[in-house]
Amino acid sequence: MDEKLTNLRSGFFEDLKAVEASEDLAALRDKYLGRKSGLIASEKKRVGSLSPGERAEFGRLVNELSDEVEGAIKELSDRFASSLEAAALEREKIDITLAGTPPRQGHLHPITLVRRRIEDIFVAMGYSVKAGPEIETSFYNFDALNIPRGHPARDSADTFYVSSDLALRSQTSTVQIHTMQQQAPPLRVISPGRVFRRDTPDPTHNPMFFQVEGLAVDRHITLADLKGTLQKFVELMFGKNLKTRFRPSYFPFTEPSAEVDFSCYVCGGAGCRVCKGSGWIELGGSGMVHPNVLRTVGIDPEEYSGFAFGLGIDRMAGRMYDIDDIRLLFENDVRFLEQFA
Ligand code: DAH
Repeated sequence: MDEKLTNLRSGFFEDLKAVEASEDLAALRDKYLGRKSGLIASEKKRVGSLSPGERAEFGRLVNELSDEVEGAIKELSDRFASSLEAAALEREKIDITLAGTPPRQGHLHPITLVRRRIEDIFVAMGYSVKAGPEIETSFYNFDALNIPRGHPARDSADTFYVSSDLALRSQTSTVQIHTMQQQAPPLRVISPGRVFRRDTPDPTHNPMFFQVEGLAVDRHITLADLKGTLQKFVELMFGKNLKTRFRPSYFPFTEPSAEVDFSCYVCGGAGCRVCKGSGWIELGGSGMVHPNVLRTVGIDPEEYSGFAFGLGIDRMAGRMYDIDDIRLLFENDVRFLEQFA
C-alpha cells in the first residue's frame, strides 16, 4: 500500500483510540473525511494528478481507506449511543418490588360523624332528613316562628343580616316552616345544618355552629310523645339507663316549651368533669308547636298538634370526644382532626 496511506491509516487509528466521547467523533471525522481539508479527502483529490498506471490502484486504496475510516467512526458512534441508552435505562429503572408510599386517606369530620349517628337514630324511628336554606327572609327567620317585631332575637346585634329582609338563619327552626308548607301532616322530619349568630368566639361559642331540628306533626301528638322520643334518642346516642328531665322554658314557637337535660353518661349523675359536677348535661330546647305557627302554614291546630326540638350537634360532638373548646371543631387543623380517623 502507498506509504502515505499506510501512515494516514495508522494515524487515524491512533486518533480513534483517544476518542472518549461521541462529541469528539465529529472533529475526528472532519480531520480525515472533511470535504475541504480532510486528510483522506485531500488524497482523493490527488488521484487526478497521477499517471494513468498508478491511478486505478491508488484510487481503489484510497477509497478502501475512506470506507474503513467511515466504518470505524460509525461503529464507535453506535457504541457510544448504545452505552448512553444503557446508562439512561439504568438511571430510569423503576424497582417495582419496592414498597410504595401509601396515599394519605381522608376521613369524616367529627361533626359529620356525630350528625350521621343522629340521622341514623331518627331515620330508624321513621323520620326523614331534610335540608333548608342558610339564608332566609324575615318571614322564615322570625314572623312564621311567632317571633314578634321588636323581639331581641331579630336585633342586628345578634343576627347576621344580608339585607333588611334577608339574614343568615340563627336556628334550624326555619326548616319547620318550609317542611309544613311543603308537606301535609302526618310528618316526622329532622333537619341538621349550620346556623349563624353574632357571638364572640370563646370555648363554648362560635359564630357558626350546627343544630339539628326535629318536628313531628300529626293528630293527637302530645308532650308525652316528645318526652318519649327524646328519651329514646338519648339512650341510643349516649347509652342505656340514662334519664332525661324537662325544665319549663320559653320559646316563641312552642307552647309549652322545655329545656331538656340528660343524666351524665360519664358519671351516671354523681357529678364529674364532663357534666361540670351537676350530674346533668343540656341536650337542647323543645316544646309543643305553637298554634300560631301551625296556623301560619295552614294547619288547623284544632285538628293537628306537633312537637319540635332543636339540639346542638357540635355541643354533642364536644361532649362525646371530650373537646373542651368547640372552636377546635371549626378551625380544621388537620393535626387535630386526624385524631378522629
Ligand atoms: N331554636 C332554638 C334555639 O336555637 C332551639 C329550639 C327550642 C328548637 C325549642 C325547637 C324548639 O324546635 O321547639 O335555641
